[in-house]
Amino acid sequence: METLQKKIEEASSLEELEKIRVELFGKKGILSAEFAKLKDIPGPEKKVFAEGLNKTKVLLQDSFDKKLAVLKSIALEKQLKAESIDVSLYSNLREKGALHPVAQTMDKIIDYFVSLNFSVETGPMSEDDFHNFEALNLPKYHPARDMQDTFYFADGMLLRTHTSPTQIRTMLKEKPPIRMIAPGAVFRRDYDLTHTPMFHQVEGLVVEEKGKVSFANLKAILTDFLHHMFGDVDIRFRPSFFPFTEPSAEVDISCIFCKSNGCRVCSHTGWLEVLGSGVVDPNVFKAVGYDNVSGYAFGLGVERFAMLMHEIPDLRSLFEGDIRLLEQFR
Ligand code: DAH
Repeated sequence: METLQKKIEEASSLEELEKIRVELFGKKGILSAEFAKLKDIPGPEKKVFAEGLNKTKVLLQDSFDKKLAVLKSIALEKQLKAESIDVSLYSNLREKGALHPVAQTMDKIIDYFVSLNFSVETGPMSEDDFHNFEALNLPKYHPARDMQDTFYFADGMLLRTHTSPTQIRTMLKEKPPIRMIAPGAVFRRDYDLTHTPMFHQVEGLVVEEKGKVSFANLKAILTDFLHHMFGDVDIRFRPSFFPFTEPSAEVDISCIFCKSNGCRVCSHTGWLEVLGSGVVDPNVFKAVGYDNVSGYAFGLGVERFAMLMHEIPDLRSLFEGDIRLLEQFR
């Protein structure tokens, strides 16, 4: 017994210990052989012998388990040491990085409007009710608020549901004429194939002296813009509703996937919705104290543009950071 225990304790590697395990606890091992003797031992002595043997077995098993744990941790330490890497070493293996497809799309959008002398404005992502809703002609308890459910803070602030509040902030800060876009992250209580709780929008706003701009200007600029983004597509302005514009239009492009023949992406309509737009509602100008002005506005989802431009089927994949998707944009 003592020699066996010593043997276990002196094992210097996992391989050696494994050999000992077979020798000791294996089917044809020492302990099995001892237990086999039981059948030849007469009555009273049998019990004593069996008890002793069981005790020995437990003690040996105990020593074995302890030794196994020790040797395993030594082996692990050795392996970690062997696999450690020197992060300060120079490497020739340099993969070229790239902007995320959403950032690339955003840049392409911004470039277009900057070339037309639009300023690029930003606003806070945590907004108050006034800028996100009230001033945009979305009074408290108005059912149109249901279209944009979001995340609220205890103090009444909220994560902005769109970039439209930046229209309000810019109008309060500047004087007309205004010609601005506002790119940035927005938030909604949504999660499915085409919606994520955080996504990006680009807002646009033009304000001029009364009568200087109309729906015709909106139509012209957005038509040109969508050709810039999607190439040779047909464009359709479809009457719609937004609280902050009157009249309002959603803008569709002809389906780039099926060339308008009808497919799953366009729900067999031949058209893809890409923008919201309209002539600024007088109530919005009232909220910021503007008088004698006309204007138009628009808003778009950047992820949706990226998905359509690159034929990405699931919007959520834009946020997974999977290198197999991202490396295609180098
Ligand atoms: N804010 C709207 C949304 O998130 C998009 C939008 C529609 C913005 C029409 C506009 C607009 O400025 O005129 O759904």
